[in-house]
Amino acid sequence: MTYTVGYIIGSLSKDSINRKLMDALVKLAPESLTFVEIPIADLPVYNRDVDADYPEVAVEYKKAIEATDALVYATPEYNRSIPGSLKNAIDWASRPYGDNAFAGKPVGIIGASPGAIGTALAQQHLRNILAYLDARTLGQPEAFVQFTDDRFADDGTVRDAETRDFLTDWLTAFCEWAEHCST
Ligand SMILES: Cc1cc2nc3c(=O)[nH]c(=O)nc-3n(C[C@H](O)[C@H](O)[C@H](O)COP(=O)(O)O)c2cc1C
Repeated sequence: MTYTVGYIIGSLSKDSINRKLMDALVKLAPESLTFVEIPIADLPVYNRDVDADYPEVAVEYKKAIEATDALVYATPEYNRSIPGSLKNAIDWASRPYGDNAFAGKPVGIIGASPGAIGTALAQQHLRNILAYLDARTLGQPEAFVQFTDDRFADDGTVRDAETRDFLTDWLTAFCEWAEHCST
Protein backbone atom coordinates (compact mmCIF):
# COMPACT_ATOMS: atom_id res chain seq x y z
CA MET A 1 0.00 0.00 0.00
CA THR A 2 1.04 3.60 -0.57
CA TYR A 3 -0.27 6.49 1.47
CA THR A 4 -0.54 10.21 0.85
CA VAL A 5 0.43 11.92 4.08
CA GLY A 6 -0.42 15.56 4.61
CA TYR A 7 1.94 17.32 6.97
CA ILE A 8 1.24 20.45 8.93
CA ILE A 9 3.94 22.56 10.56
CA GLY A 10 2.60 24.23 13.68
CA SER A 11 5.10 27.09 13.43
CA LEU A 12 4.84 30.06 11.08
CA SER A 13 8.49 31.00 11.60
CA LYS A 14 10.75 30.98 8.54
CA ASP A 15 13.51 29.55 10.76
CA SER A 16 11.28 26.93 12.33
CA ILE A 17 13.09 24.01 13.95
CA ASN A 18 9.88 22.02 13.54
CA ARG A 19 10.08 22.57 9.79
CA LYS A 20 13.66 21.26 9.91
CA LEU A 21 12.49 18.23 11.88
CA MET A 22 9.75 17.62 9.33
CA ASP A 23 12.24 18.04 6.46
CA ALA A 24 14.36 15.36 8.13
CA LEU A 25 11.38 13.04 8.47
CA VAL A 26 10.41 13.50 4.81
CA LYS A 27 13.98 12.71 3.71
CA LEU A 28 13.90 9.47 5.74
CA ALA A 29 10.40 8.41 4.63
CA PRO A 30 9.91 5.03 2.94
CA GLU A 31 8.64 4.97 -0.66
CA SER A 32 5.21 3.89 0.58
CA LEU A 33 4.64 7.35 2.12
CA THR A 34 4.21 10.42 -0.10
CA PHE A 35 4.42 13.57 2.00
CA VAL A 36 2.60 16.76 0.95
CA GLU A 37 2.65 19.96 2.99
CA ILE A 38 -0.69 21.48 3.97
CA PRO A 39 0.10 25.14 4.75
CA ILE A 40 -1.78 27.03 7.45
CA ALA A 41 -0.11 30.45 7.40
CA ASP A 42 -2.73 32.17 5.21
CA LEU A 43 -5.81 31.03 7.09
CA PRO A 44 -7.74 33.89 8.69
CA VAL A 45 -8.85 33.63 12.30
CA TYR A 46 -11.77 31.19 12.43
CA ASN A 47 -15.23 32.68 12.95
CA ARG A 48 -18.32 30.47 13.00
CA ASP A 49 -20.31 33.24 11.31
CA VAL A 50 -18.78 32.12 8.00
CA ASP A 51 -19.59 28.41 8.44
CA ALA A 52 -22.07 28.58 5.55
CA ASP A 53 -19.64 30.43 3.30
CA TYR A 54 -16.02 29.46 4.00
CA PRO A 55 -13.37 31.71 2.41
CA GLU A 56 -11.60 30.08 -0.55
CA VAL A 57 -8.33 29.62 1.37
CA ALA A 58 -10.16 27.60 4.05
CA VAL A 59 -12.08 25.57 1.45
CA GLU A 60 -8.80 24.59 -0.25
CA TYR A 61 -7.11 23.83 3.08
CA LYS A 62 -9.96 21.59 4.19
CA LYS A 63 -10.06 19.82 0.82
CA ALA A 64 -6.30 19.18 1.11
CA ILE A 65 -6.82 17.48 4.47
CA GLU A 66 -9.69 15.39 3.13
CA ALA A 67 -7.55 14.26 0.17
CA THR A 68 -4.94 12.65 2.45
CA ASP A 69 -4.82 9.12 3.82
CA ALA A 70 -3.08 10.29 6.99
CA LEU A 71 -1.65 13.41 8.64
CA VAL A 72 1.53 14.31 10.51
CA TYR A 73 1.74 17.34 12.79
CA ALA A 74 5.13 18.80 13.67
CA THR A 75 4.31 21.21 16.45
CA PRO A 76 6.27 23.61 18.61
CA GLU A 77 5.30 24.11 22.23
CA TYR A 78 4.06 27.62 23.04
CA ASN A 79 3.45 28.30 26.71
CA ARG A 80 2.94 24.60 27.42
CA SER A 81 0.40 24.16 24.62
CA ILE A 82 0.15 24.28 20.83
CA PRO A 83 0.52 27.60 18.98
CA GLY A 84 -2.72 29.51 18.45
CA SER A 85 -2.18 29.38 14.68
CA LEU A 86 -2.30 25.58 14.79
CA LYS A 87 -5.44 25.49 16.93
CA ASN A 88 -7.01 27.96 14.51
CA ALA A 89 -6.21 25.65 11.57
CA ILE A 90 -7.71 22.67 13.39
CA ASP A 91 -10.87 24.64 14.12
CA TRP A 92 -11.31 25.44 10.41
CA ALA A 93 -11.04 21.78 9.40
CA SER A 94 -13.42 20.64 12.15
CA ARG A 95 -16.37 22.73 11.00
CA PRO A 96 -19.14 23.34 9.95
CA TYR A 97 -20.71 21.09 12.58
CA GLY A 98 -21.16 17.60 11.17
CA ASP A 99 -18.45 18.05 8.53
CA ASN A 100 -15.29 17.28 10.47
CA ALA A 101 -12.30 16.51 8.21
CA PHE A 102 -10.48 14.55 10.94
CA ALA A 103 -12.97 11.74 11.59
CA GLY A 104 -11.18 8.39 11.34
CA LYS A 105 -7.97 9.97 10.03
CA PRO A 106 -4.69 8.36 11.17
CA VAL A 107 -2.44 11.06 12.67
CA GLY A 108 1.16 11.13 13.81
CA ILE A 109 2.49 13.83 16.13
CA ILE A 110 6.09 14.95 16.44
CA GLY A 111 7.66 18.10 17.80
CA ALA A 112 10.96 19.78 18.49
CA SER A 113 12.03 22.23 21.15
CA PRO A 114 15.41 23.51 22.29
CA GLY A 115 14.37 22.41 25.79
CA ALA A 116 14.70 18.97 27.29
CA ILE A 117 11.00 18.06 27.37
CA GLY A 118 10.75 18.50 23.59
CA THR A 119 7.09 19.64 23.23
CA ALA A 120 5.63 16.89 25.43
CA LEU A 121 2.92 19.14 26.87
CA ALA A 122 1.97 20.65 23.52
CA GLN A 123 1.66 17.19 22.04
CA GLN A 124 -0.59 16.05 24.89
CA HIS A 125 -2.89 19.03 24.29
CA LEU A 126 -2.93 18.23 20.56
CA ARG A 127 -3.88 14.63 21.35
CA ASN A 128 -6.82 15.83 23.45
CA ILE A 129 -8.14 18.01 20.63
CA LEU A 130 -7.71 15.31 17.99
CA ALA A 131 -9.34 12.67 20.21
CA TYR A 132 -12.44 14.86 20.45
CA LEU A 133 -12.38 15.17 16.66
CA ASP A 134 -12.30 11.37 16.30
CA ALA A 135 -8.85 11.25 14.69
CA ARG A 136 -6.74 8.12 15.27
CA THR A 137 -3.48 9.34 16.79
CA LEU A 138 -0.46 7.04 16.93
CA GLY A 139 0.21 6.44 20.64
CA GLN A 140 3.71 4.97 20.60
CA PRO A 141 6.46 5.75 20.04
CA GLU A 142 6.14 9.32 21.20
CA ALA A 143 8.48 11.74 19.44
CA PHE A 144 9.73 14.49 21.74
CA VAL A 145 12.79 15.85 19.98
CA GLN A 146 15.30 18.13 21.68
CA PHE A 147 16.60 20.16 18.76
CA THR A 148 20.35 20.78 18.68
CA ASP A 149 22.65 21.79 15.83
CA ASP A 150 24.70 18.63 16.22
CA ARG A 151 21.56 16.57 15.50
CA PHE A 152 20.14 18.45 12.49
CA ALA A 153 21.70 20.37 9.60
CA ASP A 154 19.92 23.43 8.19
CA ASP A 155 18.62 21.50 5.17
CA GLY A 156 16.98 18.91 7.43
CA THR A 157 19.69 16.29 7.14
CA VAL A 158 20.04 14.29 10.34
CA ARG A 159 23.60 14.42 11.63
CA ASP A 160 23.69 11.62 14.18
CA ALA A 161 22.85 7.94 13.87
CA GLU A 162 20.78 7.77 17.06
CA THR A 163 18.35 10.48 15.87
CA ARG A 164 18.22 8.96 12.37
CA ASP A 165 17.37 5.52 13.80
CA PHE A 166 14.76 6.99 16.12
CA LEU A 167 13.00 8.87 13.30
CA THR A 168 13.20 5.85 11.00
CA ASP A 169 11.59 3.65 13.68
CA TRP A 170 8.93 6.30 14.23
CA LEU A 171 8.16 6.32 10.49
CA THR A 172 7.85 2.52 10.48
CA ALA A 173 5.38 2.66 13.36
CA PHE A 174 3.44 5.47 11.69
CA CYS A 175 3.25 3.54 8.42
CA GLU A 176 1.94 0.45 10.26
CA TRP A 177 -0.56 2.65 12.07
CA ALA A 178 -1.86 4.15 8.80
CA GLU A 179 -2.21 0.62 7.41
CA HIS A 180 -3.96 -0.60 10.57
CA CYS A 181 -6.43 2.31 10.49
CA SER A 182 -7.25 1.74 6.82
CA THR A 183 -8.24 -1.92 7.30
C1 LIG B 1 5.36 32.33 22.54
C2 LIG B 1 6.39 31.26 22.83
C3 LIG B 1 6.18 30.37 23.86
C4 LIG B 1 7.09 29.32 24.08
N1 LIG B 1 6.82 28.39 25.03
C5 LIG B 1 7.60 27.28 25.13
C6 LIG B 1 7.22 26.19 25.95
O1 LIG B 1 6.20 26.22 26.63
N2 LIG B 1 8.02 25.09 25.97
C7 LIG B 1 9.16 25.01 25.21
O2 LIG B 1 9.84 23.98 25.24
N3 LIG B 1 9.55 26.03 24.42
C8 LIG B 1 8.79 27.14 24.35
N4 LIG B 1 9.13 28.17 23.51
C9 LIG B 1 10.41 28.07 22.76
C10 LIG B 1 10.19 27.28 21.48
O3 LIG B 1 10.32 25.90 21.76
C11 LIG B 1 11.21 27.70 20.43
O4 LIG B 1 11.03 29.07 20.11
C12 LIG B 1 11.12 26.87 19.18
O5 LIG B 1 12.15 27.24 18.28
C13 LIG B 1 9.74 27.06 18.50
O6 LIG B 1 9.61 26.17 17.41
P1 LIG B 1 9.80 26.69 15.89
O7 LIG B 1 11.27 27.05 15.73
O8 LIG B 1 9.41 25.50 15.07
O9 LIG B 1 8.95 27.90 15.71
C14 LIG B 1 8.26 29.22 23.28
C15 LIG B 1 8.47 30.15 22.25
C16 LIG B 1 7.55 31.15 22.03
C17 LIG B 1 7.78 32.13 20.88
